[in-house]
Amino acid sequence: MSIDIVPPRISDPAVFGRVAVLMGGTSAEREVSLDSGRNVLEALRARGVEAFAVDGIPALVEAIRGGDVDRVFNILHGNKGGGEDGVLQGLLEALRVPYTGSDVLGSALSMDKIRTKQVWLSLGLPTPRYVRLGKGDDVHVAARELGLPVIVKPSCEGSSVGVSRVHDDAGLEQALELAARYPGELLMEQLITGDELTVAVLGTTDGHHALPSIRIVPKGEWYDYNAKYIAEDTQYLCPGLDGEAEAEIRRIAVEAFNAAGCTGWGRVDVMRDRASGKFYLLEVNTAPGMTSHSLVPKAAREVGIGFEELCWRVLESSLGPDAGGRDA
Ligand SMILES: Nc1ncnc2c1ncn2[C@@H]1O[C@H](COP(=O)(O)OP(=O)(O)O)[C@@H](O)[C@H]1O
Ligand SMILES: [Mg+2]
Repeated sequence: MSIDIVPPRISDPAVFGRVAVLMGGTSAEREVSLDSGRNVLEALRARGVEAFAVDGIPALVEAIRGGDVDRVFNILHGNKGGGEDGVLQGLLEALRVPYTGSDVLGSALSMDKIRTKQVWLSLGLPTPRYVRLGKGDDVHVAARELGLPVIVKPSCEGSSVGVSRVHDDAGLEQALELAARYPGELLMEQLITGDELTVAVLGTTDGHHALPSIRIVPKGEWYDYNAKYIAEDTQYLCPGLDGEAEAEIRRIAVEAFNAAGCTGWGRVDVMRDRASGKFYLLEVNTAPGMTSHSLVPKAAREVGIGFEELCWRVLESSLGPDAGGRDA
C-alpha cells in the first residue's frame, strides 16, 4: 500500500541553528541511547546541520547556559527524568529551547501505561482489558476478573523489563513480585495471543502519518528483553500486514498517537488477536530507538525515507505545528 508523504518543509540546514543531540544519560537504556545518538549526529552532520553531542541533562543545561544551543534533538530513552517522561520537556519549555518530539503532556502520559489506556478507552480505542494493581490487592481476584492467561507489568517501565506472562494461578505471585521491583503502579492485562506489531508515526506539514507496520516475529515465545536487544534471530516483516488490515492498524495507530497528545514522531505497539483479527493497543514510545536494528528507520526505509532524511524530518518537529511539531 503506497503512502503519500509530503516533502520536508525545510531545505536549508542553517534554519536549525546549533543542534544539541541529547543522548546517553543515566537510565538503564543509556547504551541504546548512545548508539541511537551517534547515528543521529552523523546523519544530521552529513546533511550540513551544525550538530553536536551532549551526554545527559546536566550537560545540556550547561550548554544552554553557555548560549550554545538553538534546539535539541532528544534521543534519550527512559523514564524518571530520563528524558522521555516529560521532565526534560518541561525544563526545555521553561528555558524556551525548542526540542523534537512530544511535549510535556504527550511524553508524561505515554510513559504511564495505565493512564494512556484510560484515555484510549474513553475514546473507544481498543486496548487489552486491565486491572490496576494497588498495594495489597489480591492478584488472584484480579486474574479471575480478567480470566487467565494474563500479562503483569509495571505501568511506567520500558524494554519489557518487569513484564511476565502468566498462564496459571501458581505464577501470579512471582509475576507480581517481579513487576513490583520497579517504581510506580502495576497493571494486569488480558494476554492477547497473536501477532505483535508496531507502527511508526511521523509528523509532516499536513498532520501525522503512520508508516507501514512492522510485524515482529521473535524466535522465542514473546518479544522480551532478550528478543529486543540481544537475539539476532528476531524477524521483522515490513509491511507487517496487507490490504484492509494494514490500513486499519495504521488508522488506529495515528488515532492512538493523537489521543495520547503525542506529536512529531513516535512508535505505537499493538497486538493482533489471532482468533478474531482484532487489534489491541499496548503503548506509545515517544523517543524510539534509532540504532541500526531499530524499527522506525526500517519502516521509514520502506516508504523511501532514508535514515538521514528521517533524522531531518524529526528535527523539523522542533519547529512548531506547521512542521508536524508542537506550538513553538
Ligand atoms: N496484553 C498483552 N498481551 C500479549 N503480550 C503483551 C501484552 N502486553 C505486553 N505484552 C508483551 O510484552 C512486551 C512489552 O510490553 P509493552 O506493553 O510494550 O511494554 P514495554 O515495551 O514498555 O516494556 C510487548 O512487546 C509484548 O511482547
Ligand atoms: Mg513496548
